[in-house]
Amino acid sequence: MKRYIAVIVAVLLLAAGCGQKDNGTAGVPTGAGEPTEAVQPTTVPEPTEGSQPEVTNTEQPTTAPEPTKTPDPTPTPEPTPEPTALPEVTPIGKMLEEYGMRAGTCLSDFMVKDKKCLEIITTHFNSITMENLMKPDYTLDRDASIAAGDLVVSFNDMTLLMLDWARDNGMAVRGHTIIWHSQTPKWIFHENFDVSQPFVTREVMLTRMESYVRQVFEKLTELGYIDLFYAYDVVNEAWMEDGSIRKEQNYWHQIIGDDYLWYAFSYADKYAPENIDLFYNDYNEQFKTETLVNFVKTLVDEDGRYLIDGIGLQAHLYTADDIDNYLKTVETLGATGLKVDLTELDVCLGTWQSKLPATEENLKIQGQYYYNLIHGLLELVQADKVNMDSLTFWGFADSLSWRKNASPLLYNSKYEPKYAFYGAAQVKELAGFDE
Ligand code: GLA
Repeated sequence: MKRYIAVIVAVLLLAAGCGQKDNGTAGVPTGAGEPTEAVQPTTVPEPTEGSQPEVTNTEQPTTAPEPTKTPDPTPTPEPTPEPTALPEVTPIGKMLEEYGMRAGTCLSDFMVKDKKCLEIITTHFNSITMENLMKPDYTLDRDASIAAGDLVVSFNDMTLLMLDWARDNGMAVRGHTIIWHSQTPKWIFHENFDVSQPFVTREVMLTRMESYVRQVFEKLTELGYIDLFYAYDVVNEAWMEDGSIRKEQNYWHQIIGDDYLWYAFSYADKYAPENIDLFYNDYNEQFKTETLVNFVKTLVDEDGRYLIDGIGLQAHLYTADDIDNYLKTVETLGATGLKVDLTELDVCLGTWQSKLPATEENLKIQGQYYYNLIHGLLELVQADKVNMDSLTFWGFADSLSWRKNASPLLYNSKYEPKYAFYGAAQVKELAGFDE
């Protein structure tokens, strides 16, 4: 597949209305709100809709001066093509499409109500993952469960609104997530759905699990949304870095035992439509690679057929993380024959022990990091070393990120593209590399 990176340097026209063409990529990489005067004509105002930075017109008459006018003391030549080239960049989604991949972002209820966010999302992404609303804390309904004597799944109005938005805007959806130790209500593990009562038995918990998994797919089908989904994280974060299964606070494991993972995938395989890829999703994947390879080999039925379709790599990275090492993980997991998707990519400045401030220099390093990482991934895809069909960022703007104190994303808090954006979009010359 051919690399498709078109950088069209467009001259910013001064005519009124240009701002409407802003697709969210206009602007230059500015270090987290520090405009680089060399390229930015004026300080960038708040990024309200269509607010293309107005170029002050004090020196330029808007109409050609009459020939009879008093000559200028300082001969001003041609209408100064004031600015400054603003780069127009191929949207990330379009760029990845060339590799057969989707570009995703998480979506929150804040984003879906914010015009500027939606403009960025619809420009660059074609896949969404609910940041929270499809997690068990939100989808399991206690009152209804007590009334039914069985776990009951229900999607709240906000979730449905977001799914409607996804459908209306041509977004595909990654489901996230069903079986997890975190953001899961504790009452689901207890007799009568009452935390003051004992845990249920393994048999009851397996019955509840089957019912839960079945209802996720059944309800999305009944509500008419199932066709939006192309992948679903069936289980999230079950393994530890030392190769052991997560036990602490993992009541699924405490009640059912090690094989809760096999059952989760077996039920998902039974109830999910064929075209939805079933994923195991985890973090610190570069420290768990062998564990993950060994684990997915166990997710087979009695005929040896995989019950799983893909491994989701959260990719919550740091600029100090070794890219080659990360790419080796991707390649090793790719060799299982399963899909390998990046599901929550963000890259903090520094290391996890020591985050770095958003200085110009650190932001440039981050831009290079995004460029090199994604470049490396695309090389693996091109070489058929990994079957990767989507790359999802865990958001796009630093201010909306769960790791906002380490500036991990593509846009700064004013929704201006950072070096990281250009790195992700594979525009090397704007990604913070020195000439
Ligand atoms: C994990 C989960 C995500 C999200 C992040 C933190 O990566 O998979 O759903 O909760 O943590 O925002």
